[in-house]
This record gives sequence, structure tokens and C-alpha cells, in this order.
Amino acid sequence: MNIDFFKKELSDVLSKKRYEHSIRVLETSLSLGKIYNADLNKIALASLLHDYAKEFTREKLLKISKEHFKDETKDYLTNVEILHSYVASYIAKEKFKIDDDEILNAIKFHTTGRKNMSLIEKIVYIADAIEPKRDYPHVEKIRDLALVDLNKAILLEVNKKIEYLIKGDYIIHVNSIEMRNWLLKIS
Ligand SMILES: [Fe+2]
Ligand SMILES: [Fe+2]
Repeated sequence: MNIDFFKKELSDVLSKKRYEHSIRVLETSLSLGKIYNADLNKIALASLLHDYAKEFTREKLLKISKEHFKDETKDYLTNVEILHSYVASYIAKEKFKIDDDEILNAIKFHTTGRKNMSLIEKIVYIADAIEPKRDYPHVEKIRDLALVDLNKAILLEVNKKIEYLIKGDYIIHVNSIEMRNWLLKIS
């Protein structure tokens, strides 16, 4: 895989701040990938592209979501924060011709998570939440846990995220609830 090609593509559509976040997610997920023996090529691609659509206009996000993820996104159309993940997986498939479901799903579910996530999905999800510039209550604990137990790290992260969403009166995606219940059962 040509990492430099994707870095250039990314820098064309993202602000410096978001581009640098993506590179930190790449680095974080690669170090986790080494710990957990995951496919580093898949992780690199999913990490680089996970926020590709983050700065698309609201109109563009809505258009692609309604056209290509109608059922999955119909209850979340007011929430651009969730839509950018679906749209990035669409771009990965259509523009960059990535047809590996593990990569596409790691991109698609990086914001909400979901039950029965693959190792690649888990790594990209948690790397996004713990990259070195992330700063929120308990992030240190989540970072430490990620080095030894991905499930426990994600469970703590999603618990804290749900608390935050409730406090702010924000919508909670059903995938996040299902992921939490699944992790409670298996971890
Ligand atoms: Fe994102
Ligand atoms: Fe991100």
C-alpha cells in the first residue's frame, strides 16, 4: 500500500488539524496492531481514511447518506458526527476501490462502534479515541487498558461517551448501546 498517496489525498480534503489527527490515529492504531497481531496494512488504510469525509459539507453528507445508507442512517440524519463515518466508507469503496469489508467496516463504525466488532474495527475505534492529543476524563486509564485489553478499554470509553451524551442531551446511536451490552457480556 502506498501510504504517501493516501496522505496526499487526505491533505487535499482535510484541514491541517484534522489531517494531523488522522496521522496520530494511524500511528496509535499501528502500535496497537503490533501488540494484537493485526493486519497492519488494513489498519493503516482504515485509519488514514476514517475521517476523510469529516469536513464535507452537511449537504454532501446528507446526499450520500440518503442515497447509499438510507435505512442505516434514516434515524440519524440530524447528526453529521455519525454520518461522516458512513460517507468515508463510501468514498473508500467508490473512489479508492477498496473492497475489503474489514477495512470498510472499520471506517464505517469508527464513531459508533457496534456489537461483534472485528479486531481491526476495535483497534481503529479505540485509536481514534485515545490518540495522544485526545484529552477527556479517564482517557489515561483507557489508554493504559488498550495496551492490555481492548474490550475493557472500549467498554470504559463507551461508558464515558454515553455519560457525556446523556449530560448533553445528545442522541445515542443504537450501535453504541449494543456494543456496550456485548462488551459487558464478553469482557
Ligand atoms: Fe470520525
Ligand atoms: Fe477521528
